[in-house]
Amino acid sequence: MRRAALPLLAVLVALPFGLYALGLAIDAARGLRPPDSHLFAPGAPASNAALALHMAAGAVLTALVPLQLIPALRRRWPGLHRGMGRIFVGAALAAALGGLVYIAGRGTIGGPVMDAAFALYGVLLGVAALMAIRAARARDLVRHRRWALRFFTLAMGSLLFRLHYAAWFLATGGAGSTEALTGPFDRVQVFAFYLPYLALLELWLSREKRGAAPKSDASAG
Ligand code: HEM
Repeated sequence: MRRAALPLLAVLVALPFGLYALGLAIDAARGLRPPDSHLFAPGAPASNAALALHMAAGAVLTALVPLQLIPALRRRWPGLHRGMGRIFVGAALAAALGGLVYIAGRGTIGGPVMDAAFALYGVLLGVAALMAIRAARARDLVRHRRWALRFFTLAMGSLLFRLHYAAWFLATGGAGSTEALTGPFDRVQVFAFYLPYLALLELWLSREKRGAAPKSDASAG
């Protein structure tokens, strides 16, 4: 149960953002635009639909994907783990594709730098999702775990983006950030919500691999 505490805490932290994203998607589907928002433009049905789909799929992914990390769930109900895994991979692909269509059609509020950062984020999320399910299908559990951790880290990125802003605004009142997300803080932030976390994870995985190597050598001998 102790090992379920962190994933459950992550669900609790992510839930309000998931509900917010879902609410925006539902409003968009009903033809309602959020007040003062640049997100949904009249006369742009493709990018509006892509963004609404992306928010709904992203909401499900962000709020529920931490459940995949609970060891007891995986052990006791492997079928549930597999079923939820397929749903999360589908949600990740829909969120990423919707975001990419929106970037291609309308561009982000922050211009080319943010376009590039978010497009890279979408591609990495899609690749990690596909690699995680591919390794699971091949019954390669070591590779599956590595890709699943990359996938989880990226899936949390969208929430981390908002948490970074919340913390920064509390600490500095928003220094270096503009409404159009073109300030120095914004320029760093559009990459900093996922790249440093991925780098830390890679470092941890490679240390773990190095640590495991002598043991497997010893057991082989
Ligand atoms: C992982 C789950 C995701 C969730 C829950 C999510 C949620 C949201 C929400 C709620 C918005 C509206 C802006 C706001 O209210 O803050 C938004 C905007 C956006 N998202 Fe996502 N998103 C996710 C993943 C992604 C991915 C993978 C991409 C990359 C392709 C992406 C690209 C965008 C873009 C381009 C915008 C519009 C930015 C702008 O110009 O303001 N999102 N997202």
